[in-house]
Amino acid sequence: MTTEGTHGAILQDTPPTGDAPLVELRGAGKSYGNIRALHGVDLTVHPGKVTCVLGDNGAGKSTLIKIVSGLHQHTEGDFYVDGEQVRFTSPREALDRGIATVYQDLATVPLMPVWRNFFLGSEMTKGPWPVRRLDIDRMKKTADEELRNMGIVLDDLEQPIGTLSGGQRQCVAIARAVYFGARVLILDEPTAALGVKQSGVVLKYIAAARDRGLGVIFITHNPHHAYMVGDHFNVLRLGTLELSAARSEVGLEELTNHMAGGAELAALKHELAQVRGVDVEELPDARDLTAPVATGTEEGTT
Ligand SMILES: Nc1ncnc2c1ncn2[C@@H]1O[C@H](COP(=O)(O)OP(=O)(O)OP(=O)(O)O)[C@@H](O)[C@H]1O
Ligand SMILES: [Mg+2]
Repeated sequence: MTTEGTHGAILQDTPPTGDAPLVELRGAGKSYGNIRALHGVDLTVHPGKVTCVLGDNGAGKSTLIKIVSGLHQHTEGDFYVDGEQVRFTSPREALDRGIATVYQDLATVPLMPVWRNFFLGSEMTKGPWPVRRLDIDRMKKTADEELRNMGIVLDDLEQPIGTLSGGQRQCVAIARAVYFGARVLILDEPTAALGVKQSGVVLKYIAAARDRGLGVIFITHNPHHAYMVGDHFNVLRLGTLELSAARSEVGLEELTNHMAGGAELAALKHELAQVRGVDVEELPDARDLTAPVATGTEEGTT
């Protein structure tokens, strides 16, 4: 059946029920030549919910979101947006469907003011051609309003964005995506390089985006961060789904164990027990011993 790009044919396949997920992957996979980075992955994103994707280094998290964000194409399985089968050939197509991605290495210009970065690539202009020029006042005002709407208060929008902390920059990027009409927000390890307090602030804005009705895909290798905001948890291991569970089906401890690989952790503890002076009972259950436990920091800064 030729369904490519023809709405009618696709809608017969999957009638829109009104509560179709924003994004759905069914048995999706991706091979890079001979390397099978992802295989048989199901993922569902609903409005007003946070879907977490967890997994260790190389588990396939970035590969998964690159498919959803239009950077790569899946080589197996199906990909639906609003119940309609899609195959994106560029990030622009994903963006046109309201799927916005905030990458960890944010695409900002460090020396430009915050408000300028907020509108980067989509500047507001005024006046008729050929004397069209940037509408600086309106951009400043809008950026200020939008940041405040998300609860982000910056003293001075004129300051270069490079002077903001990593967490603040993530927050500006989230507010920007919301303003430009994102329905699905993909965040690739937004808290990975952040301290406890800053992570808490970013988690707060993930919750704010969720409360505004966006479907959020939150990629992280920190089960504590995931559990603070997540509604559904997908754990990837070596490119396949090891766990897919709703919040009601899995506790933080179990999630952490899945992440750490229970057996591997037990073996590690056993080895450490041979080392004098190491109290293995005191060891956390997560493999990532350096991961900040952000419990109780959700309120973040004042
Ligand atoms: N462009 C590529 N070409 C070939 N192999 C790739 C490519 N991108 C990723 N891979 C392989 O696919 C697997 C999954 O990588 P991916 O980047 O998706 O993992 P990840 O979960 O995001 O890891 P990390 O936590 O380190 O970011 C890895 O084995 C990686 O080597
Ligand atoms: Mg990655």
